[in-house]
Amino acid sequence: MSRHTAIRRITAPDIRARKGGEPVVCLTAYTAPMAGLLDAHCDLLLVGDSLGQVIHGLLNTVGVTLEMMILHGQAVMRAAEKALVVVDMPFGSYEAGPEVAFANASRIMKETLCQAVKVESGPAVAGTVRYLVDRGIPVMGHVGLRPQAVNVDGGFKAKGRSDGERARVLEEARATDEAGAFAIVVEGVAETLAEEITAAVRAPTIGIGASAACDGQILVTDDMLGLFDWTPKFVRRYADARALVGEAVAAYAADVRARRFPAAAETYALKPARVAAGEEPR
Ligand code: KIV
Repeated sequence: MSRHTAIRRITAPDIRARKGGEPVVCLTAYTAPMAGLLDAHCDLLLVGDSLGQVIHGLLNTVGVTLEMMILHGQAVMRAAEKALVVVDMPFGSYEAGPEVAFANASRIMKETLCQAVKVESGPAVAGTVRYLVDRGIPVMGHVGLRPQAVNVDGGFKAKGRSDGERARVLEEARATDEAGAFAIVVEGVAETLAEEITAAVRAPTIGIGASAACDGQILVTDDMLGLFDWTPKFVRRYADARALVGEAVAAYAADVRARRFPAAAETYALKPARVAAGEEPR
């Protein structure tokens, strides 16, 4: 039996069916080793375009390309066996219209073998979500704070502070839902708006900085592991990986400088019989 038939992978309809039920556990993943660690614990792994900042040191997600998303999507798909893997469509790959979006989404799915894509579903995108879903591409929406809109918003700002903005975000969520999204990320909104959206849509809402009023939660894994010196208010740090890495690297550097590393146990030696036979060590 191949490893592909041994484990039943969670599907987009499985996630959709979780509306109002057991909370959906999601994290971001960008690399094979991390995906392997997260897979057993998560229902959904998102290859988020946040990899632009987290992995590639960009200031925001605008510079992320389709090729970057495909490369990281392939890495995650090599290691994740159980969780549904969703790959973000980067800025510029879907906004121009449904046909461009279909070409790029189908390329992501063919080249990574992921099971779904995510789009930031602002007002202009609902028709595209419908087009993709009708053609066999499960789509996750993303409303509220939309990081790809950083340049029109003038920064990363929580959404729904005015009545007009609340109505707009609610409308975006409704349109995304009616277009057939199997789940909707709700980012950076107050609890009352998250409650209103969650009650208004049939798809499960996946909150990030959007309170416990959602059907599931997602965090950027590197944030919750404490790999950065600063984390947003909504992130709970479950580890201090930055301190751990700092201590480990300082200890390694000190050992190398003092010639304590490598020691005999970390050094290859020829076995006496092989030395006699003139063999090279393995
Ligand atoms: O790109 C990303 O990681 C995301 C999550 C934060 C939802 O969109």
